[in-house]
Amino acid sequence: MAGGDSDLHEIAIVGTGYVADLYMRSLQSFPEIRVAAAFDIDAERLRAFCTYWRVPAANSLDELLDARYRAVSLILNLTNPESHHQVSMRCLQAGKHVYSEKPLALDMDAAYALHALAKKQDLLLASAPCSLLGETAQTLWLALRENRIGKPHLVYAELDDGYVAQAPYRHWQSESGAPWPYRNEFSIGCTLEHAGYYLTWLIAMFGPVQKVIAASANLLQDKIGDGSRTAPDFSCATLFFASNVVARLTCSIIAPHNHKILVVGEKGSLEVGECWDNNAAVRLRRRYAIRRKLVNSPIAKRVRIIGPTQQKVRRRGAAAMNFALGPAELLAASAEHRQPRLNSHLALHLNEITLAIQNAEDISGVSIMQTGCPPIEPMPWARAG
Ligand SMILES: NC(=O)c1ccc[n+]([C@@H]2O[C@H](COP(=O)([O-])OP(=O)(O)OC[C@H]3O[C@@H](n4cnc5c(N)ncnc54)[C@H](O)[C@@H]3O)[C@@H](O)[C@H]2O)c1
Repeated sequence: MAGGDSDLHEIAIVGTGYVADLYMRSLQSFPEIRVAAAFDIDAERLRAFCTYWRVPAANSLDELLDARYRAVSLILNLTNPESHHQVSMRCLQAGKHVYSEKPLALDMDAAYALHALAKKQDLLLASAPCSLLGETAQTLWLALRENRIGKPHLVYAELDDGYVAQAPYRHWQSESGAPWPYRNEFSIGCTLEHAGYYLTWLIAMFGPVQKVIAASANLLQDKIGDGSRTAPDFSCATLFFASNVVARLTCSIIAPHNHKILVVGEKGSLEVGECWDNNAAVRLRRRYAIRRKLVNSPIAKRVRIIGPTQQKVRRRGAAAMNFALGPAELLAASAEHRQPRLNSHLALHLNEITLAIQNAEDISGVSIMQTGCPPIEPMPWARAG
């Protein structure tokens, strides 16, 4: 996509809060993508964001979608989850491709409506997260395709974020000064906020989920200390894939930080320590029978992709996640007239699984998934070294 002005892609942002700054920093790794305008219903927040990043501010969503910004093909919907459906609908109706922050929608009727409208309008619709397109996920996936652990059977994936209610979160601020939206984060809950980070990997690597057996609980009822309602702060799901793989996925904002994934196969296991770090190591352990003992190799071998991979952001650890990989994939797919790896089927399937886990508290029992997802292609650079 790099090159002259004809290769320049114009996009716009709706919702200029905490996460929008992470997108702006990440977009710097894609000089061919330009943010032509931004809009937020909070005028002061919009002004602070646009001043900091030198982005033109639109006065309304209608203005952002009108002829003035004709060259904008893709809208990033970075609003709060309660606004995702309404904002994405408006953007699709206006003929724009949409990349929405997660979740796509807060109920399946709204998610189906978005999916149907995108199809009718022949537009691209995707939802975050996009870490599947990063080096770590692609390396893990390549190791599986190369049969390094033989047939995969079982996955343990953890998304524990620590006892957040006791963290000094009232002091957390984004680069341009947006406060961490704790009320919204606690009312939406860690499952809707985080399950997708591993669910997208699992769906890409093992295919669609057929059945979800989950439980969720709100262990710390009064997190904010003023009696306001909050969502489940713990969930645990067993996911049954059509490919016969079974995964246990845990989300919490109670247990200490742990973002590990372990994939166990017939010859050994693969491990990653952090799904928010696009550079996290993928480690392979083989299994041996030595005399009368079964031993998992104490020495893990790092699996690597040799050669250039994804565009990197200059941050370390969990902040080394490039939020712009998803929007860039949509723009590339549109230019190449192909389905993006992050497509509307994946977004819908991800939404259904996530809601089944989030709402398990009330449903309790088995949820049979009604949606699916066609096979997803790995990134072209994800080849053996
Ligand atoms: N906070 C994080 O670390 C983080 C990380 C990854 C993803 N996300 C996701 O990003 C999304 C936004 O989260 P955030 O942390 O930036 O929240 P935020 O509250 O800081 O920002 C959201 C912004 O959207 C604006 N907004 C709401 N409804 C709108 C509408 N109808 N039209 C225009 N603007 C509207 C709000 O005024 C606010 O400024 C959420 O879906 C969240 O799950 C957040």
